[in-house]
Amino acid sequence: MRLMAKTRTKPGKPKAAYPRVTFLEGRGDLPMLEIMTPWSSAEIYLHGAQVTHFKKHNEPPLLFLSQCSRFALGEPIRGGIPIIFPWFGKPAGKETQHGFARIKDWELKEMAMTPDGTVSVRLQMPEWLDSPDLPDCILEYRVTVNVALTVELVIMNRSGRDFGFENCLHTYFTVGDVGDLSIVGLKGVDYLDQLAGFARKTETRGAIRISSEVDRIYVDTPNTVEIRDSSLRRTIRVEKEGSASTVVWNPWIAKSKAMQDFGDDEYRQMICVESGNVAANAVNLPPGQTARLKVRLSSSKLK
Ligand code: BG6
Repeated sequence: MRLMAKTRTKPGKPKAAYPRVTFLEGRGDLPMLEIMTPWSSAEIYLHGAQVTHFKKHNEPPLLFLSQCSRFALGEPIRGGIPIIFPWFGKPAGKETQHGFARIKDWELKEMAMTPDGTVSVRLQMPEWLDSPDLPDCILEYRVTVNVALTVELVIMNRSGRDFGFENCLHTYFTVGDVGDLSIVGLKGVDYLDQLAGFARKTETRGAIRISSEVDRIYVDTPNTVEIRDSSLRRTIRVEKEGSASTVVWNPWIAKSKAMQDFGDDEYRQMICVESGNVAANAVNLPPGQTARLKVRLSSSKLK
């Protein structure tokens, strides 16, 4: 780990409270970083390189984390931003849903603090020794915490052959009530309706409302998406680069009850708006090339 910059305090003055990074044993005794900046706080587990918390001071948490989540080796954490890679869902022949990145233990490689109080960390996934059929790659995740949360998944193909994969930053957002939100930015975009056997349909609504289970892969869309939450009087912006798909998911009542690691009523407090490259938008990465998937999450008062 390399520390790029330190915060300076004048002799005799108390140490500035921000920025601050603390290494802790988190839930399930899993190692975690707690980050405090002048604007916000965040938590990152090395398990899955999963950001489980981001909150601006004086605002409710931006990310949703289930009260029933497991925190255990080999199990995904339910909430925050699970990293979905190298496949989405459960294709035939794969044993784990959504790939293995979210259940691996990542390594912290670098941490940096800039004089304005921004904190950045760089994590790397260890070699995928248990998947010898995959090409030799380096997988990094960069997290920047300030007034916004920026995450970037970087895949470098060091092998001599093409690497085809899917990726997705499966982001769970906190909302006041799922019935009081509109999702804006997907009008006119085609989607695969996972609840209708992946039927291809076109979104006709400028403002999508949620009143039942939803599980859709919007394709060929680089658009910024906004979640307008009239209950919390907050707009969340999801800005992305290197992403052609947006997945919208809410499990609603029956699926919530069926999930062991999710509260029966928690579907009302969350919505997943996920940025990635899924299905027809899967990435084919030639040898020597790098793929970047970057998402900036920010919030403001609902106008
Ligand atoms: C979403 C998928 O991205 O993730 C859903 O579109 C899936 O189909 C959901 O149910 C949750 O997946 P998991 O593996 O975390 O329970």
